Amino acid sequence: MMPKKQQLVISSQEQVGEAVFRLTLQGEVAALPGQFVQVGVAPALDPFLMRPFSVHDCSRDKLALLYRIAGRGTKLLARRQPGELLTVIGPLGKGFPVGKADRAVVVAGGMGVAPLLYLLRFLRGAGKDVAFFYGAKTAAGLVLQDTFRSLAGEYIAVTEDGSAGKKGFVTQFIRPALAGKKADLYACGPFSMLRAVAALAKDTGADCYLSLEARMACGVGACLGCVIRGADGCWRRVCTDGPVFRAEEVFGR
Ligand SMILES: Cc1cc2nc3c(=O)[nH]c(=O)nc-3n(C[C@H](O)[C@H](O)[C@H](O)COP(=O)(O)OP(=O)(O)OC[C@H]3O[C@@H](n4cnc5c(N)ncnc54)[C@H](O)[C@@H]3O)c2cc1C
Ligand code: FES
Repeated sequence: MMPKKQQLVISSQEQVGEAVFRLTLQGEVAALPGQFVQVGVAPALDPFLMRPFSVHDCSRDKLALLYRIAGRGTKLLARRQPGELLTVIGPLGKGFPVGKADRAVVVAGGMGVAPLLYLLRFLRGAGKDVAFFYGAKTAAGLVLQDTFRSLAGEYIAVTEDGSAGKKGFVTQFIRPALAGKKADLYACGPFSMLRAVAALAKDTGADCYLSLEARMACGVGACLGCVIRGADGCWRRVCTDGPVFRAEEVFGR
């Protein structure tokens, strides 16, 4: 489907964590899990560039985003109020496919959790047995835990400092969930976490889909601002070839 530019009405804006907000918009974007939208964060043309955000949740008449204040653009976005109009272009990029295995192991790191709510709902709808691993630096970095817990058969929270859930890196705890029954792996989070997830996939033979982040300008494949070099040495645009890639495209076989 061609990405549409739309003005959507903000229906709610709520703070759900430390500098983390959930913004809900009225309107249909018809996105797949893992796709993203470009958002005009302010009513004026400053900042000029739109900002990319994953589709956190979506239905026939609703689009939700989950974002953390990172800089000027997201600070302006957090000031927007219910009833105001927001310019949105999307859906953009390639989302997560639904893998073949009956079991799905989904891994989130920090704000990488944003696109995974919609993915969990999708996987459950496809009848998958879902295990969800959610890692953050500290307890404050874990948001909407009850919602995520309710969507997964198995839910494991991990923090680096042990202030909530298990202590360590989230990737230390995944291997048992991949033992025995064949599982597909899905992940979104920091690049180092994605590398570790890809290594687990290589070891266990699991199909693995990773959502990458890159600095983006246009979001539609025109500016080459978001390119990464794939494992085969070829350049890929994160905005149009991704943001979801098969692990071997990024980290090799
Ligand atoms: C496909 C995609 C989906 C995304 N989905 C989400 C999401 O669902 N929720 C969310 O909170 N954020 C998401 N991001 C990141 C988000 O786009 C940036 O945080 C936002 O654009 C920052 O804008 P700003 O003006 O507030 O910050 P800026 O002033 O532009 O930058 C502030 C700081 O954030 C860093 N930064 C800015 N953009 C990125 C980026 N793309 N990746 C890594 N670091 C960045 C800068 O290096 C700088 O240190 C996504 C990014 C991409 C590419
Ligand atoms: S952001 Fe312009 S090509 Fe990807």
